[in-house]
Amino acid sequence: MSHRIAVIPGDGIGKEVMPEGLRALEAAAKRFGIDLSLEHFDFASCDYYAEHGQMLPDDWFEQLKGADAIFYGAVGWPETVPDHISLWGSLLQFRRRFDQYVNLRPCKLLPGVKSPLADRKPGDIDFYVVRENTEGEYSSVGGKMFEGTDREVVIQETVMTRTGVDRVLKYAYELAQSRPRKKLTSATKSNGIAITMPWWDERVKAMGVHYPEVSVDQFHIDILTANFVMHPDWFDVVVASNLFGDILSDLGPACTGTIGVAPSANINPDGHFPSLFEPVHGSAPDIAGKGIANPIGQVWSAAMMLEHLGHPKAGQAIVDAFEAVLAEGDKAVLTPDVGGHGTTEALGRAIAERIAG
Ligand code: NAI
Ligand code: MG
Repeated sequence: MSHRIAVIPGDGIGKEVMPEGLRALEAAAKRFGIDLSLEHFDFASCDYYAEHGQMLPDDWFEQLKGADAIFYGAVGWPETVPDHISLWGSLLQFRRRFDQYVNLRPCKLLPGVKSPLADRKPGDIDFYVVRENTEGEYSSVGGKMFEGTDREVVIQETVMTRTGVDRVLKYAYELAQSRPRKKLTSATKSNGIAITMPWWDERVKAMGVHYPEVSVDQFHIDILTANFVMHPDWFDVVVASNLFGDILSDLGPACTGTIGVAPSANINPDGHFPSLFEPVHGSAPDIAGKGIANPIGQVWSAAMMLEHLGHPKAGQAIVDAFEAVLAEGDKAVLTPDVGGHGTTEALGRAIAERIAG
């Protein structure tokens, strides 16, 4: 069976790290006998916008919906297209229309990467943030009244549905269950947000009945952010609503050093639609064109994609490969953000060679 992968490099360094992501992907596919069919798309980029006046063709949904996964670089070129247009016109369309209700981000301190937290070494930080990606605080329910007067009022309602919350909790419990520590932490704020958050806590308990092996704790979001910094070793899988998850999924990877290595997955666990795999970073206009972007965020995203497609060994081989290259610490190979003077391509090639074995 062949996996159809839609490849979308996007903008800026997206176009530079994508070839290295593909190099790793193809090396792993070759080694593990996985049949991939790659389809390349130039839309969802600001170059496409310059030519067509929109980020996506009208039939993008039809073009992509049959793919098994979407492998994405980064979008954004604020010099020519405002960020809200490029982001809402591309990535956010994919997330919504393909019901990618889980945003998954590993937070793992890698060998050879310096954590901004003092005295932390590889092994100390190794957890996942599972963010609800479709509802919650990011709703379109609300409005403005009496604009420009003393009575001006704005309201934006949090929307949590049992369907929406239970399905992301189920995903988080399953992930915790599959890991050695089997530990789940829930982000709450039931002391202050006294309607939705106590209800969220109830749903966490109700779902937990099905996962007796998983131990569960919860923290209010304020102390939880402090604990990410003070005690990152406490965490295994952390589940959170859309807003809390947004914050935690930037803070978590930040605790593990450079943004250049962090991957993310936007997952439709039902498999009705393709899931999307992309580095956490953006198009980095400040270093675009220099050939020095770290490709590991893209490479790691390829590993997550293979795991999602049912090839955990191939995914692990990619992770092992970049960890080994980082641990080796060859400055001619590593990019500047991890202390070297190598290029995107040199680092990508070194990783692909390792994967090939
Ligand atoms: P950014 O992530 O592009 O860059 C932030 C900083 O990190 C920059 O100094 C950059 O040089 C550095 N950096 C990022 N990736 C790196 C890598 N692989 N290797 C080495 N250094 C790296 O975020 P910024 O500057 O806020 O946004 C730039 C553009 O990217 C904007 O248009 C923004 O909307 C877009 N963006 C897109 C995202 C996506 O496609 N998912 C996510 C974040 C931003
Ligand atoms: Mg964010």
